[in-house]
Amino acid sequence: MITINEHYLKLQASYLFSDIAKRVAAFQKNNPDKDIIKLGIGDVTKGLPPAAIKAFHEAIDEMANDATFKGYGPEQGYEFLRAAIAENDFRSRGADISADEIFVSDGAKCDTGNIQELFTNDIKIAIPDPVYPVYLDTNVMAGRTGFFEDGRYQGLVYLEGTKVNNFVPSLPTEDVDLIYLCFPNNPTGATISKDELKTWVDYARQHKALILFDAAYESFIRDESLPKSIYEIEGAREVAIEFRSLSKSAGFTGTRCAFTVVPKECAAYDRAGNKHFIHGLWNRRHCTKFNGVSYPVQRAAAAIYSEEGKVQAKALIDYYMANADVICATMDQLGYEYVGGKNSPYIWVDGKMDSWAFFDRLLATAGVVCTPGAGFGKCGNGYIRISAFNSHEKVKEAMARLSAAFSG
Ligand code: MLT
Repeated sequence: MITINEHYLKLQASYLFSDIAKRVAAFQKNNPDKDIIKLGIGDVTKGLPPAAIKAFHEAIDEMANDATFKGYGPEQGYEFLRAAIAENDFRSRGADISADEIFVSDGAKCDTGNIQELFTNDIKIAIPDPVYPVYLDTNVMAGRTGFFEDGRYQGLVYLEGTKVNNFVPSLPTEDVDLIYLCFPNNPTGATISKDELKTWVDYARQHKALILFDAAYESFIRDESLPKSIYEIEGAREVAIEFRSLSKSAGFTGTRCAFTVVPKECAAYDRAGNKHFIHGLWNRRHCTKFNGVSYPVQRAAAAIYSEEGKVQAKALIDYYMANADVICATMDQLGYEYVGGKNSPYIWVDGKMDSWAFFDRLLATAGVVCTPGAGFGKCGNGYIRISAFNSHEKVKEAMARLSAAFSG
């Protein structure tokens, strides 16, 4: 008899964004004439930067020719891309990361979901609430939690992000082994200062813990005093793995290219307390289960680090952040409290009512899709997340409709 992994039965019925997509599709079916504007899932809408497109075309031409054709590439990524990443994303900001510590992949979602395979099932995990659902769900699938009760999985330490702490959780009061952090945060858009991040690095060093730092939204940081990488913090190389993505920073959601940074000093321990370097373990996993990102995609990604590529990618960020400014201004006018939107494409709004009720009302009255905060955890209830990823025209139109529906 084939038996299933029963931990899957503990999961909530469906993945948040699939659930929303289904609700929106049902609404559209019943209201075929309604023009729906999507500010829900953080998916980019603008075309790829011209430098990436040119590199893509050239790489496709190389693939068409026997003399320049590429078959399997290095699982970890081509040296030309790893070197460009190490130099531009880290070294230029004083973070000591080398090319062979970069593992190129097809998404930060996969990497943040897969990394937990390296650790035992009885570790204590600290996970933020609200949180990007992938961190939680992948640990549920692996059997590291109990059942879901009263909005929470048993056995986890939840790091609450609330108005009281400005959505930057405090250190756990009990010992934990694995800590998920995401800044600028998805979903709240909150940011962390260097001093605050240092307290987490110090905690991890003292407790022989590991931080999984999701920096997928670092390119939206406008405040130069904020850290873009955890490796800007002293001591982080020993206790932190960082995840990055070109999805939002360069419009690659449909193109797929991301990377994980595993410094060579970063360690975990066996039951006897012996130290093992994670770099080798992750490399082993990567080579066993992944065959590399396609050559044209890696060429397109490397082009983002050229001088013109950097300017063009920055223009994309500025475009979406102009939308974030419009959304923030609308919330100010309507008197809604929010965080995010200043150094993040997400605006986390206190909706002053149940999140799903706000979602339904916004869809029904304004034809605008947001993401209900409750889908990101118990602390998200009462909030909605508005994404700045859409055209200027659609965001302005959405905000005008929202103002008309919700003012007064
Ligand atoms: C989001 O909307 O939270 C993200 O787009 C989801 C993702 O990056 O997987």
